[in-house]
Amino acid sequence: MGVWKIAGETPADCGERDVIFALKSTSLVTEASRDDIPVLADIHARCFQRGWSASEFQTLMADRLVQCLVLRRSTFRATDQVAGFVLARAVANEAEILTIGVHPDYRRSGCGRQLMEGLMRKLYGDRIAKLFLEVDASNDPALSLYRDLGFEKVGERKGYYTKADDTPSLALIMQVNLIGAPVKRAKR
Ligand SMILES: CC(C)(COP(=O)(O)OP(=O)(O)OC[C@H]1O[C@@H](n2cnc3c(N)ncnc32)[C@H](O)[C@@H]1OP(=O)(O)O)[C@@H](O)C(=O)NCCC(=O)NCCS
Repeated sequence: MGVWKIAGETPADCGERDVIFALKSTSLVTEASRDDIPVLADIHARCFQRGWSASEFQTLMADRLVQCLVLRRSTFRATDQVAGFVLARAVANEAEILTIGVHPDYRRSGCGRQLMEGLMRKLYGDRIAKLFLEVDASNDPALSLYRDLGFEKVGERKGYYTKADDTPSLALIMQVNLIGAPVKRAKR
């Protein structure tokens, strides 16, 4: 019998006779449910100096203006593992990202991009025209992701974040237009 490989994370030493139903790792961006709250708080604590508690997530998710999307990964080892999340608040035709985080074990594998694209698609469907966020000017991974997705710096706020050594750090305010002309770039 030949190898029947659906692709993906297949053990390297499988023999010619093995029949393998190795599921390619798949990911899906969906709305978060209340059951996800403990894992969201856990991932948030791994991402940020001041983590948000489960009850903070609960309060935010109960707000009808707030959207919380999660990225679920499935491999042959586990299904529906929450790998990351993004929260945004929409008011009128504008929205702001409240937070985004990917579990350290899943970084650099496209999760952050998929979460952002999932959110942008959802907001576009809701006729939201502008999306804003604030990011620490020294957060290179996040900045690179946002720039790739078309965000432009539209302002800055001094001392908004605090570095690990307690010194103040600069926050950049970034915007992307989901509807209409691209944002005019501010001086970098
Ligand atoms: C920022 C963050 C969400 C990115 O998630 P991720 O799943 O690792 O990102 P992706 O794998 O989808 O990468 C998308 C793009 O982001 C950029 N990027 C991600 N990690 C990077 C790194 N370590 N260095 C440089 N660029 C990086 C790249 O442009 C990358 O595109 P590429 O893979 O084509 O080069 C993740 O690093 C994270 O959770 N950080 C901690 C929390 C945080 O800082 N949140 C943002 C607060 S504003």
